[in-house]
Amino acid sequence: MTDPTTVPLEPTEPGEAGAQGAESNPYAAVIFDLDGVIVHTDELHYRAWKGLADRLGLPFSRTDNDQLRGVSRMRSLELLLAGRADSYSEAEKVALADEKNKDYRDLLNELSPDDVSEAVRCTLWALQEGGYRLAIGSSSRNAGLILRHIELDGWFEAVADGSMITHSKPDPEVFLKAAELLGLSPAECVIVEDARSGVDAALAGGFHCFGIGDAAGHPDVTWAIESLPDMLAVLLPGKPLPPIVY
Ligand code: BG6
Ligand code: MG
Repeated sequence: MTDPTTVPLEPTEPGEAGAQGAESNPYAAVIFDLDGVIVHTDELHYRAWKGLADRLGLPFSRTDNDQLRGVSRMRSLELLLAGRADSYSEAEKVALADEKNKDYRDLLNELSPDDVSEAVRCTLWALQEGGYRLAIGSSSRNAGLILRHIELDGWFEAVADGSMITHSKPDPEVFLKAAELLGLSPAECVIVEDARSGVDAALAGGFHCFGIGDAAGHPDVTWAIESLPDMLAVLLPGKPLPPIVY
């Protein structure tokens, strides 16, 4: 991996409003979605949901899995059950969701720091060096576990996750919670999302939002980006981009 200490960025005081982009933007913090932005847990979700679907004799493809991006665990189960959702009691659905989550957590044991791309690492590093505060806003109740497995937990000053909210994306609750933990208003934070429902959540909460992957196709996303370091051109204008192998 490129040695980030060679990147020519001048550090500023962490938490300084607007950081190095102060002249051109009002942001003091970046709130990242976790799954699909910081680390690709999609395949592990797929394997866990696919196992459950096979046991129930239901079809479930990778395309179906893509539709569950940003969707809560219980809502994902209802989509997987499709027309059969009404044949299960609430208690049975909770048991099925627990079964999937147990398999998923077993699979999360495979996650390691090697699963974090160089583009993600360099972006986090450049933003932190540029004075931005970093936070997570994730629908996942496993966010803390994932961050520990990939050893990035120390990078985020605040982590708002699925265990702290009653309404999942597209409701803005998780992002508002992250902003509250930071003590900032939505106008002072910018969101990074890979799910269209996450972009809806950000906009509903009064945040500006970077969309990557599927979310880049959202018609109202503030900035569509191809790769995470693209956000540095907006947040650290005039600074050379870190020398990353994309
Ligand atoms: C989101 C994922 O981040 O978290 C969804 O994109 C997932 O696919 C949701 O269903 C809830 O995650 P978990 O880990 O609490 O089941
Ligand atoms: Mg996501």
